[in-house]
Amino acid sequence: MSAQGTDSGAAAPRPKTTALTLREKHQRGEPISMVTAYDFPTAKIVDAAGFDAILVGDSLAMVVLGHPNTLSVTMEEMLHHARAVSRGATRSLLVGDMPFMSYQTSTTDAVRNAGRFLQEAGMDGVKMEGGRSLVETVKAIVRSGIPVQGHIGLTPQSVKALGGFRVQGRTADAAQLLIEDALALEDAGCFSIVLESVPDRLAELVTDRLSIPTIGIGAGPGTSGQVLVLHDLVGMFDGFTPRFAKRYAELGAAMGEALRAFRSDVESGAFPAREQSYSMPEEEWQALVARLDRRLPGPRRRPRPARG
Ligand code: KIV
Repeated sequence: MSAQGTDSGAAAPRPKTTALTLREKHQRGEPISMVTAYDFPTAKIVDAAGFDAILVGDSLAMVVLGHPNTLSVTMEEMLHHARAVSRGATRSLLVGDMPFMSYQTSTTDAVRNAGRFLQEAGMDGVKMEGGRSLVETVKAIVRSGIPVQGHIGLTPQSVKALGGFRVQGRTADAAQLLIEDALALEDAGCFSIVLESVPDRLAELVTDRLSIPTIGIGAGPGTSGQVLVLHDLVGMFDGFTPRFAKRYAELGAAMGEALRAFRSDVESGAFPAREQSYSMPEEEWQALVARLDRRLPGPRRRPRPARG
């Protein structure tokens, strides 16, 4: 067929991922890729890299805002970042993370705040931490037409109750409760469940028992998909690096190097060079000089750095 025909070899544009198409992908047995993003430029990069889903995670409290945990990030802050992400990403499924105390206080608060992620920030769904205790809340949000992703295992919003960021489900009793949590969330209508920091065998067992996809983070290879915090995987966060966070780049170190080179150029006068400067037409310059009564601009008030 001709170059203009359908056999031209050009890849068809990737369609927008929805909670439904994510489930279909899972049913075809294809692994699901998810990563966090918190702003416009990284959302654009993640979207173009072909990720199925982007999570505007409350981890932004730690990796972007510098808090020691995720407890202090607010709805307004989450919406601010979610809006930036939705301006940058057009194809990935966008999931807004419900922050601490935005859904624990009442079902009414939970539905209203979940709705704000869709209505005010362009998200496609929300994520919430918790198991069986959250069933009525999940049902109410799903009834409102909002896709919900569950999150069990290590749930960072419960860090105070859990006594730290610890692996969960390591005993038979704890593992059984985790399985019950997963089944309850599926029954409540979740389109997917994040499994964080649980033993790999348990994550695989949970995945086998569910029809919805599980997305693992520190849960081994047996889940339906994987998610990582962007700043961990590109080497932009040194505060706390969990064992499961594989580093694919050292962008923090690369930025430090670039910044030191810029500072050094400023100090030596090597920046800006002619290529980074704007010129003025000679006749305009002469007109200005004449207008200033043939006087050149006044004496410089600061020494110019020596040019190398
Ligand atoms: O907030 C977040 O980034 C998350 C992931 C760790 C799953 O919840």
